[in-house]
Amino acid sequence: MPNSSMIIYGKNINMRTVTTKDAEFIYNMRQNQNKTKYLSKVTGTVESQKEWIKNYKRREEEKKEFYFVIESKDEKKLGLVRMYDFQDESFCWGSWLIKEEAPKTTAIESALQIYEFGFYSLGFEKSHFDVRKGNDKVIAFHHRFGAKIVDEDELDYFFNFEKSDYEITKEKYKRYL
Ligand SMILES: CC(C)(COP(=O)(O)OP(=O)(O)OC[C@H]1O[C@@H](n2cnc3c(N)ncnc32)[C@H](O)[C@@H]1OP(=O)(O)O)[C@@H](O)C(=O)NCCC(=O)NCCS
Repeated sequence: MPNSSMIIYGKNINMRTVTTKDAEFIYNMRQNQNKTKYLSKVTGTVESQKEWIKNYKRREEEKKEFYFVIESKDEKKLGLVRMYDFQDESFCWGSWLIKEEAPKTTAIESALQIYEFGFYSLGFEKSHFDVRKGNDKVIAFHHRFGAKIVDEDELDYFFNFEKSDYEITKEKYKRYL
């Protein structure tokens, strides 16, 4: 269903899956030059973003991918985050983008909700993701959460994060849940 959303309810944020109505928001977020330096380039128009979302909604229905708008409780759009590349035991997440003016806890809360959903609702044992070399703030974020660099290439560090390590992190950050 291209215009329905699944919603995850967090403490100060909700995460709802995107619909074609979010095409303009996604497009504008991905056009922000200083924020998207370490993300892959999105080309095209609002119209082609809409097309992409239509195709994505099929993958969402099959539970192969989830693309969320991060929102405040009063439905102000704060950012975006995506789960994809689901393997046997591990899910990938990324396309993580939060507005400068979002409340300070948005990053931690959205990461926690991703792990809660990935480990407990979808049943994965592990998470994997890559971060561009030089994206030091984000690398530090994942290290503090307990994720480990397991590989690298010229462009990226490849991280793994085990559910068993998440259980420890979760205890530490329970005030954000
Ligand atoms: C990646 C992104 C979504 C993270 O959001 P962010 O708000 O910048 O995250 P921060 O690391 O600044 O964390 C937010 C606050 O929580 C704090 N924080 C983060 N992790 C914490 C932790 N484990 N314990 C305590 N505090 C923590 C930070 O110190 C920060 O507070 P401060 O501003 O007072 O220092 C955002 O930087 C962004 O949109 N970046 C551009 C796109 C991008 O690079 N995406 C990632 C691709 S892999």
